[in-house]
Amino acid sequence: MCAPTYFAVDYAINPWMDPTAPVDTDLAMTQWSALVRTHRELGHQVDLIDPVPGLPDMVFAANGGTVIDGVALAAQFRYPERAAEAPAYLDWFARNGFDTREAKAVNEGEGDLLLAGRYLLAGTGFRTELAAHAQAQEEFGRPVIGLQLVDPRFYHLDTALCVLGGPAGIAYLPEAFSPGSQRVLRRLFPDAIVAELADAEVLGLNAVSDGVNVVLPVQAKGFAAQLSLVGYRPVGVDLSELRKAGGGPKCCTLVVRP
Ligand code: ARG
Repeated sequence: MCAPTYFAVDYAINPWMDPTAPVDTDLAMTQWSALVRTHRELGHQVDLIDPVPGLPDMVFAANGGTVIDGVALAAQFRYPERAAEAPAYLDWFARNGFDTREAKAVNEGEGDLLLAGRYLLAGTGFRTELAAHAQAQEEFGRPVIGLQLVDPRFYHLDTALCVLGGPAGIAYLPEAFSPGSQRVLRRLFPDAIVAELADAEVLGLNAVSDGVNVVLPVQAKGFAAQLSLVGYRPVGVDLSELRKAGGGPKCCTLVVRP
């Protein structure tokens, strides 16, 4: 994770971002710190990367790369505003003993590449390119399932789909995907939780699950109820300030798999 020391909304690269609206960086820090505490209280180890001045979105660590089986695939950002985050994260992976791979195409890390059991689910449409799906399949040796995103509000896969593990496998908002991708998801995950738009609109699907506990935006009340109903334990956190940049708990959390 990366502290929001330099967090701001200075540019707009997704529909959530309004550079004219005020942002409270201190409040963002308080909310982010509570998220770190929550992960630790649930028994997870949290490692930190130093924030870099001039990179206001670096708090969204999920975009910093994809790390599976000790292999760290670097990110390559779509927009120049975030480009310098990629080498900063790659340097962290190298210094911490991961087998690093340079990106050959635009990919925004776990924003669009989500490991779900045997499959690597891979979003495209707004950020990550199809060529990156092919590279991810080669680097990780996991079958990649390409998924077409169609709603600009849900520009990263992790805003439209949450990997849960456990009984449901995933939760997702069907209308954020093309008809063909919806059919793929129904076929692969017949027991998935089908989320409501109202919950996705507060970035409710941008959640972090360990298979039992699901850390999600506290505003996503309907999704929390759906989770409880099938045996998960929803843990609400308030990241309202970071949502002004289009990010939630999952965006702030890169899962590092040694
Ligand atoms: N402002 C950032 C962007 O548009 C937010 C990134 C959110 N991260 C995520 N994993 N969805 O790139």
